[in-house]
Amino acid sequence: MADSHRRPQALAPDDLLAALADRHSVGPKQLAAPAPSDEELAWAVGLALRAPDHRGLRPFRFVQVAAGQRDALGELFAEGARLRGLPAAEVERARQRAHNGPGLVALVGRGREDEPDVPLREQWLCAGAGLMNFLNALHLMGYGAKALSGSSVDDPPVRDAFCREGETLLCWVICGTPRERSNPRYAADPWAALERWTAPGE
Ligand SMILES: Cc1cc2nc3c(=O)[nH]c(=O)nc-3n(C[C@H](O)[C@H](O)[C@H](O)COP(=O)(O)O)c2cc1C
Repeated sequence: MADSHRRPQALAPDDLLAALADRHSVGPKQLAAPAPSDEELAWAVGLALRAPDHRGLRPFRFVQVAAGQRDALGELFAEGARLRGLPAAEVERARQRAHNGPGLVALVGRGREDEPDVPLREQWLCAGAGLMNFLNALHLMGYGAKALSGSSVDDPPVRDAFCREGETLLCWVICGTPRERSNPRYAADPWAALERWTAPGE
């Protein structure tokens, strides 16, 4: 599937819409190398930054974990699991989880409470929209990806290694080349999520 990687501007608008309608998560077991290159990741982050961002607060950023850093991340995962009081076998499993997927990026959010015109809900929606654009960009380039959080994002040793003051580790994005073609698990029924408003008295 590697040579199916391509940038969305090469697609006609109808093809682009069809490709977006096909976006779905691909889990780590279904992903192989290569992971997106640095340039492709930067391109996807550029799309993420098109998320609607009231006052340009940029309430999220991405942090790439390099292949050679997985052991160090594993140590933090293991330490986090140890601090949660998990037994040795679970601690080992947590350590191994740091090696899941060919590519790994953390999504870090920053909700500012000192912006009266931009309530926190707007900032979190912006971060979510950024994540969606990021996933769509990878999908359109032919990569598979999945957002995963699990307990590790709240583990102090992990959080402290990724977040600055006032930030939250929102999730991991695992990405790579799909081993085989897959499809969305559920059909999307727009009429289940699009209603007509009934005005008072109607
Ligand atoms: C911020 C965030 C964190 C998530 N964390 C997990 C997780 O820890 N475990 C999991 O199975 N799914 C998690 N998901 C859901 C999956 O990423 C995925 O969206 C879900 O399996 C549905 O698949 P779909 O994207 O193809 O609809 C998370 C989603 C988001 C947005």
